[in-house]
Amino acid sequence: MKPKVFVTRAIFDAGLDLVRAACDANVWEEDRPIPRDILLERVRGVEGILSLLTERMDGEVMDAAGPQLKVISQFAVGYDNVDVPAARERGIKIGNTPGVLTDATADIAFALLLATGRRIVEGADYVRAGHWKTWGPALLLGQDVTGATLGIVGLGRIGQAMARRAAGFDMKLLAYGPRLTDEEAAEVGAKRVSLDELLRESDYVSLHCPLNADTRHLMNRETFAKMKPTSILINTTRGPVVDQAALIEAIENKVIGGAGLDVTDPEPLPADNPLLTFPNVVVVPHIGSASVRTRNKMAEMSALNLIAGVTGQPLPNEVK
Ligand code: 8YV
Repeated sequence: MKPKVFVTRAIFDAGLDLVRAACDANVWEEDRPIPRDILLERVRGVEGILSLLTERMDGEVMDAAGPQLKVISQFAVGYDNVDVPAARERGIKIGNTPGVLTDATADIAFALLLATGRRIVEGADYVRAGHWKTWGPALLLGQDVTGATLGIVGLGRIGQAMARRAAGFDMKLLAYGPRLTDEEAAEVGAKRVSLDELLRESDYVSLHCPLNADTRHLMNRETFAKMKPTSILINTTRGPVVDQAALIEAIENKVIGGAGLDVTDPEPLPADNPLLTFPNVVVVPHIGSASVRTRNKMAEMSALNLIAGVTGQPLPNEVK
């Protein structure tokens, strides 16, 4: 008999085919997050769950599944939606998908940097709205990217990939991480600095730290106040790393120069959120890893973690 598993959203065939071949798979087929009560019902009796960031994987879900649950395989590198201590207590392994989405996510972060610095979205809207009547020397002046200072908060895989992209634009690189060494920073041409120095000196601040108790609201009224009034915040990690009310206030009061956000708090961001009223804020809907090749690799990797977990093998990528 194949092990029973539940997949919380129809991921790509590159992953689903593997899961279906090795497991008795039950898949939530609708293209929206599964309602909580249905999730609690559908996980009953499964040995593995393949989850997305849209599902809170807490002790209640684990207990609803039952004591035979062996693995939660996350279709993402981030796993802040998974209650890790609750999984540990129950002997449940957690898998994730690091590496395969590094470049795609750094591409989006750099795209947001260019878009906000050079006012790409504003410019496109201007043309679409029929405002482009003449050329003017001061029309939609932006900020330089080449030669500017980029501060990278969290120099992990994605932060390093961001540094490599920035090097192509001759940017001066500063990096901060609580355990970052001078040598690690130097490997990507960055100087290790304190968070305060990074905020003070950078023209662009890009967040690449995971969301956890230490990083929740890392960007808040006090930290925004340390940034240059022209400096632009880029966030492609998790919305709650930024205190969004403080960000709105900082943009409104011109404490900072703008923001490029792939992630918000909450997600989806309601259409009437004040962030969407500012021309110098660009918000995209959490598409950091949304390229065909990347999402296929994530599907495959999360499937292999799930299958390994339910068959008692070491996970190819286990969250330790
Ligand atoms: C995913 C992400 O799109 O991997 C992550 O942590 O945020 C994105 O790549 C998303 O989490 C899918 O579950």
